[in-house]
Amino acid sequence: MRYYTMTPMTRHGTGAEISGLDLSRPVADALKKQINADFAKHHVLIFRDQKLTAAQFAAAGEIFGPLLSQHHKDIRATGHPEVFEIRNTEVAPGKYQIAGESWHTDHSNHPCPPRATALHTVSLPSYGGDTQFANMHLAYDELPDAMKRRIEGLKAIHAWESRYTPRKMRKLSDASARALPPSGVHPLVRVHPDNGHKFLYLNPVRLDAIIGMEDSDAMALVNELIAHATQQKYEYRHKWVMGDMVIWDDRSVMHQANGDYDMKEIRHLYRIMIQDDPGLWVTEGKKTWTAIAT
Ligand SMILES: [Fe+2]
Repeated sequence: MRYYTMTPMTRHGTGAEISGLDLSRPVADALKKQINADFAKHHVLIFRDQKLTAAQFAAAGEIFGPLLSQHHKDIRATGHPEVFEIRNTEVAPGKYQIAGESWHTDHSNHPCPPRATALHTVSLPSYGGDTQFANMHLAYDELPDAMKRRIEGLKAIHAWESRYTPRKMRKLSDASARALPPSGVHPLVRVHPDNGHKFLYLNPVRLDAIIGMEDSDAMALVNELIAHATQQKYEYRHKWVMGDMVIWDDRSVMHQANGDYDMKEIRHLYRIMIQDDPGLWVTEGKKTWTAIAT
């Protein structure tokens, strides 16, 4: 028995729209199980026609797991301590910072990066501001075999801000800087714990080095992988509608925002992140740091 209507949004199944659910109401365990199974298959779920307070949005996020505390402690929404805010910000006269405006995956500098991120609309511009998602399973699958062999087993260091980032990160407050975890060390090729398929784990704004490689060789390799992985054929592009709650898998998709709207208009969304299973990462992290130290 299905509890909702689901419509895939792309030919390759990346992104699926879900209608017929009111996430402001409690969700039964069987329904949670079904939603999570669909999430492992489609990587991006779009829940339409939601009208959630910060606390209700947080509760909806917990369908997917416990919430992760985010980096910028000074941009929390009122109503729940782990709901943060995304909005276009004027950082100097006429100069705007657009959160997430280049391909990335969230918080990969964390030793145990998030399982997922979700956004819920508060206010949208009259046009533009789409979010693009690129499927890293498809990108991995279509790599030449020689490249698959070359990158198998390589591990990358993900810093707060890569020396090679295409955009500057928003400055951390003192309190947020003190709370920053040590840099993450993550394989370039990972196996998805929920669907068992391999994917590329890349992040142009944070990936700073590959262990055992000269920086110039490492960045040439990373740039080649990123150019391949962000081809439009791997993409689902989300056009926001008021009432959307969108959740994506931070492991199996990269994403980017678009600052192509009138900056006099406000694009404002609530954001939460979902913790990944720390057990996976503690084991992997320990092995990696031992390898570096010896
Ligand atoms: Fe992001």
